[in-house]
Amino acid sequence: MRQSSRLWPSFRRTVIALTALLGACIVPGNESAFNPAGPQAGRISTLWWFMLAAATAVWVVVMVFLAWAVRRSRQRDQALREPAGDASMQRGVVVGGALTVLILTAFLIADIATGRALGALPRKNALRVEVIGHQWWWEVNYIDPTPGRIVTTANEIHIPVGEPVQIIGSSPDVIHSFWIPNLHGKKDLVPGHTTSTWLRADKPGVYRGQCAEFCGAQHSKMTALVIAEPRPQFDAWYNAQLASARPPSNPVTARGQDVFLKSSCVVCHTISGTLAAGTLGPTLSHVGSRLTLASGSLPNTPGNLAAWIVDPQRIKPGTRMPSSNMNQADLQALVTYLESLK
Ligand code: CUA
Repeated sequence: MRQSSRLWPSFRRTVIALTALLGACIVPGNESAFNPAGPQAGRISTLWWFMLAAATAVWVVVMVFLAWAVRRSRQRDQALREPAGDASMQRGVVVGGALTVLILTAFLIADIATGRALGALPRKNALRVEVIGHQWWWEVNYIDPTPGRIVTTANEIHIPVGEPVQIIGSSPDVIHSFWIPNLHGKKDLVPGHTTSTWLRADKPGVYRGQCAEFCGAQHSKMTALVIAEPRPQFDAWYNAQLASARPPSNPVTARGQDVFLKSSCVVCHTISGTLAAGTLGPTLSHVGSRLTLASGSLPNTPGNLAAWIVDPQRIKPGTRMPSSNMNQADLQALVTYLESLK
């Protein structure tokens, strides 16, 4: 018993290390279902460890029996091939079949219990957030009974720590899947259908998620960030998002706004407080406050923003955003203006 309790932590560590190594090869950053930051992901991770432990035990037992059978058949070869007993073979098949049914039933019960536990988590006074998957970005609307309190943003979902959040998902084009591994299980966003899932972050942090359903050429560049922060910080962020976009404060930003409003940008993008009210692309009212550009494709820096505006197809081939032809001074003014929209 003491031996097994000593073995378990090192087994766990080995599996985490191997998975982290594999994960590090595929996705950088803090994006692991093995590192739950909330009760939903915690339950799912417990279920996973249980299933892994059971499957490992089955594998070990099968390997032991295999080794034993190989050894026995060798000995029998040497002892002039005495036939194996039919009765013991039958017994083995019956016991093996019964054990398989038992283990699968245990998996089923654990799975149902996890589903029920997830459903039973407190949801009172939940924050309701509508997440709409687009090719290839996330539209985010905070639902509020007062129309003037509805916040619309993109690709980054701020939430208050320790409070339940309902994610109401949908899609206008193809099936996407919303998944923040540290916080909850996958939820498909299906055209013509509304889905709902719940999450709660118990630790502050920035949790990265990736669209989990192949949705076209740039599926891999469809990242969502959940930023969990204490209530006062969240409220401050919310109120800042509610406010109209900052008006230009100097000649450069004034020129940038002018460039924006006179270009094709306004067809697809909104900047509140201006005439730009396009809805095909993400709102830019507070684009300067976001951590990334193009749904997690690039860190939000002036250089990256300029590169994105000039030739988005080079960064994200297939994206709906067309290239823009403008002179260097206009581009610089436009980038300065957009980055000032905190
Ligand atoms: Cu959206 Cu994959």
